[in-house]
Amino acid sequence: MLQSPSSFTRELERHASAPRRITVLGATGSIGENTLDLIGRNASAYQVVALTGGRNVARLAELAILHRAELAVVADPSGYASLKAALAGTGIEAAAGEEALLEAARRPADWVMAAIVGAAGLRPTLEAVRQGTATAIANKECLVTAGAIFMAEVARSGTTLLPVDSEHSAATQAMVGAKPERIERICITASGGPFRAWTLAQMADARPEQALNHPNWSMGPKVTIDSATLMNKGLELIEAHHLFALPPDKLDVLVHPQSIVHCLVYLADGSVIAHMSCPDMRTPIAYSLAWPERMHVPNGRVDLAKLGALTFEAPDVARFPALRLARQVLEAGGGAPTVLNAANEVAVEAFLRRRIGFLSIASLVEATLAACPDLVASAPTTVEAVLAVDSAARNRASALLSRFALAG
Ligand SMILES: NC(=O)c1ccc[n+]([C@@H]2O[C@H](COP(=O)([O-])OP(=O)(O)OC[C@H]3O[C@@H](n4cnc5c(N)ncnc54)[C@H](OP(=O)(O)O)[C@@H]3O)[C@@H](O)[C@H]2O)c1
Repeated sequence: MLQSPSSFTRELERHASAPRRITVLGATGSIGENTLDLIGRNASAYQVVALTGGRNVARLAELAILHRAELAVVADPSGYASLKAALAGTGIEAAAGEEALLEAARRPADWVMAAIVGAAGLRPTLEAVRQGTATAIANKECLVTAGAIFMAEVARSGTTLLPVDSEHSAATQAMVGAKPERIERICITASGGPFRAWTLAQMADARPEQALNHPNWSMGPKVTIDSATLMNKGLELIEAHHLFALPPDKLDVLVHPQSIVHCLVYLADGSVIAHMSCPDMRTPIAYSLAWPERMHVPNGRVDLAKLGALTFEAPDVARFPALRLARQVLEAGGGAPTVLNAANEVAVEAFLRRRIGFLSIASLVEATLAACPDLVASAPTTVEAVLAVDSAARNRASALLSRFALAG
């Protein structure tokens, strides 16, 4: 759960007259760009400390210049020379590589957006948490791979953790004022993705461009494919388990094709608190950026009369086995979530490179879990151990790829 706003509010008051110092990890991605869009609209209220990217040097340099960042870091060391050249004469520091990424996360700031995709986000996000910087967390994979370790660091440092996933942001807002023991369960919603109504036979032939064509949300490629398989919802169940300290049997998923209701919180008195907003990530990002206040977001407003109906249905785990696997892993615990996440990252990349078919994403994850009883058996207790399990699971998933390879 979120800590009380008091310590963070004191911080805000301390800086009341000064712009808030912010860092965006994963600035060149979909969440990073949306975050900087909001910051750009309120430029006098923010001072950008550091921006980081993975490989997209040109966009990183543009953003760093536009937002007058102090530091720009590209994770790929081979991008250093071109980043330095692009920033020459601007006074913006350029750096590259993993250590530089950690240094960016460590730089004193009031707020950091953790929006690197995948397990690669774990160490930089933890670095920000250890500093006690208020952390807006979009990167769900770090909670999936290392949830217990991550939440222990949050508790130790006393940092404020602000969920950015729309469902978890919605849950946070719907739970305000509710004592944990009075929360019976929470139900997060899924749009169902582009293949919600497809048969298994149709999905067997689904191509990357079809899976990337999400009906409601505009997101980066990895999370868009995860939305098509429903693995995203499975990862979000594990994320919710850690964020809200709720057991698996109090966490549910409903398919809601309109993506207007993001979460329902069921309370002991029979009340259900639902959170609604149009499907635009700037709304949950703004909640984390302005918290504990609210800021204006220039996006659509929910018009229920125009929508006419909001519909809900149970997820079909026979057609979307990734959701079943993620739930099994959540219940099993140990190293299973780390293995699931690593195998899924390998599988999604292989699908995007047209090496395996769409249905093979979940099959490869399941085969990797079955092939890794040693890794699944016990929970890694240090970050180094998590990274070792992650790396071993990636190797095993890669070795199993040929079993699922597409002909030709
Ligand atoms: N997009 C959404 O609407 C949404 C919604 C909810 C949650 N999330 C979560 O937010 C996270 C980011 O999603 P996204 O959609 O913004 O992803 P994205 O568009 O693919 O952006 C990912 C960011 O991470 C950087 N990156 C990639 N690999 C890296 C590495 N090895 N080291 C350091 N940086 C690396 C990318 O840099 P380059 O592009 O420069 O390579 C980019 O800045 C994911 O965990 C996702 O599940 C996203």
